[in-house]
Amino acid sequence: MNQTVSQGTQVNAPAYVKNQKLIAWVAEMAALTQPKDIVWCDGSKEEYDRLCAQLVAAGSFKKLNPELRPNSYLAITDPSDVARVEDRTFICSERKEDAGPTNNWCEPAEMRAKLQTADNAVFKGCMKGRTMYVVPFSMGPLGSNIAHIGVELSDSAYVAVNMKLMTRMGKGVIDVLGPDGEFVPCMHSVGAPLEAGQKDTIWPCNPTVKYIVHYPATREIWSYGSGYGGNALLGKKCFALRIASTMGRDQGWLAEHMLLLGVTNPQGQKYHIAAAFPSACGKTNFSMLIPPAGYNGWKVTTIGDDIAWIKPGADGRMYAINPEAGYFGVAPGTNTLTNLNCMNSLDSDVIFTNVALTDDGDVWWESMTDTPPAHLIDWQGKDWTPQIAKETGAKAAHPNARFTVAATNNPALDPEWDNPAGVPIDAFIFGGRRSTTVPLVTEARNWTEGVYMAATMGSETTAAAFGAQGVVRRDPFAMLPFMGYNMSDYFQHWLDMGAKLQASGAKLPKVYCVNWFRKGADGKFVWPGYGENMRVLEWMLGRIAGTAQGVENIFGLSPTYADLNWTGLNFTKEQFQSVIGIDRAAWTQELTLHEELFQKLAYHLPKDLTQVKAQLEQKLAA
Ligand code: OXD
Ligand code: MN
Repeated sequence: MNQTVSQGTQVNAPAYVKNQKLIAWVAEMAALTQPKDIVWCDGSKEEYDRLCAQLVAAGSFKKLNPELRPNSYLAITDPSDVARVEDRTFICSERKEDAGPTNNWCEPAEMRAKLQTADNAVFKGCMKGRTMYVVPFSMGPLGSNIAHIGVELSDSAYVAVNMKLMTRMGKGVIDVLGPDGEFVPCMHSVGAPLEAGQKDTIWPCNPTVKYIVHYPATREIWSYGSGYGGNALLGKKCFALRIASTMGRDQGWLAEHMLLLGVTNPQGQKYHIAAAFPSACGKTNFSMLIPPAGYNGWKVTTIGDDIAWIKPGADGRMYAINPEAGYFGVAPGTNTLTNLNCMNSLDSDVIFTNVALTDDGDVWWESMTDTPPAHLIDWQGKDWTPQIAKETGAKAAHPNARFTVAATNNPALDPEWDNPAGVPIDAFIFGGRRSTTVPLVTEARNWTEGVYMAATMGSETTAAAFGAQGVVRRDPFAMLPFMGYNMSDYFQHWLDMGAKLQASGAKLPKVYCVNWFRKGADGKFVWPGYGENMRVLEWMLGRIAGTAQGVENIFGLSPTYADLNWTGLNFTKEQFQSVIGIDRAAWTQELTLHEELFQKLAYHLPKDLTQVKAQLEQKLAA
């Protein structure tokens, strides 16, 4: 680690930094934000341990009991800084239409004034009294032709250590960048300058002023006021989805909110699946699925749990990498039954945020164990007992509490997860959280119908973002909060990519729509989900191989009861009917919601999609 004091534009970068553009940018940002010093992160273990120790000394991290949770820490945020802030997230394209109706837009010059140039611009002097960390990172394996480099400047040591777990971070990235490599500049401040002698808080942030800003034309990210998750770890949502989606549009590839998994059957044949679900709908669980009893010889392996970058290969197939190198997953609900691989990943070397602390220095969250501990310190630092929870409804962990852990901790990690060439995609899955209407699984009859399924996806909202929960909102491709440009242009990009690959003679991946979340009259989920989702996966692989059957319905093609493998699960025909059935009245209503979405997205909405909708309407009316 190289620690130097910034003097004007002098940033004294380590000798191995040869990229003049990077040095000049750091100097410019230091002059704007006036940090007390600058630390260039090299990504070493020594550096990680030192920064964690520093966070412990400052009271921001609590070191967990090393006997129970070696080399792990707990961070507790300010109560105002617990989730992504979608209403403070901006796409600043030149033209409003290019951000589209699903994004907050602001004219770039106006935003630059607010952030950088006006007298009261928020970044002016915002790092006073703090260290600026220079965090070079690669999204994707170092040097992969699918990967891209970013550099985050942040005044948060929490961000620096999280970036170490979440990305390939440090000196190796600077080496790949070389003297004139390109990088995405990612500027981040917690927005809490310190006056001389002012005591710091354990979670510095700006409780009232937040900006998560993207300039797609210049591929820049500016984030102010929050230290949490996707607001602050800028490689993730800001770069790997919002900025990367615009890069993908310009360069002919896809940046998607998708997990990536490998499935190997008992014959040793391996398939790769990319699946898009909205935040907190079980992507991490699905990516680490353990096949249920009766599935001897089947194996599911994780390539990624949240984001996929997909580029066409020379053979016309779509190749995907996970641009991340770690998981920033939702803790509540995770346990040895819902996700054993994940629980095993969390045995050591983890940063937990906003979970509860046990009396013996370990962590706990809702449903981690059947019987909660008799006493805890909850995520807000208060005493918590099962009795208090019963009386007040107080949660031990915040519903959006998270763990940060390196992918290499995952016992189910796919051997190809770090392959620079990526893995070829056999199928795309799109799924929302819907209590009604949408069947367990439906196959699109062609690419356009698949794009329609993805474009019209709806889901009930969760705690991953601020706002009301449990409300159905349209979430096209699970990308609603993460699109860097006009949603309708993005639909067209998907249609164009498919058409181009098909024209080259390539076989396109199949497309599926799934819904694990249908509820019965008793309000409970009917489908057991988790490992049992393997049954749906097996059917898909059978369809890809040409061995499995299904029946056509209004929406696409779904399995009958006899088409799924029920070995080891007691699930009746009636139960199956209640998760696969298409209710005409519900679908008539659903199509009015598709229409509402299409009206909102009318500018540049591809005609192909309105045609699919018209066909669905005809089938419904028939
Ligand atoms: C996430 C999200 O953190 O989607 O992955 O919100
Ligand atoms: Mn996500």
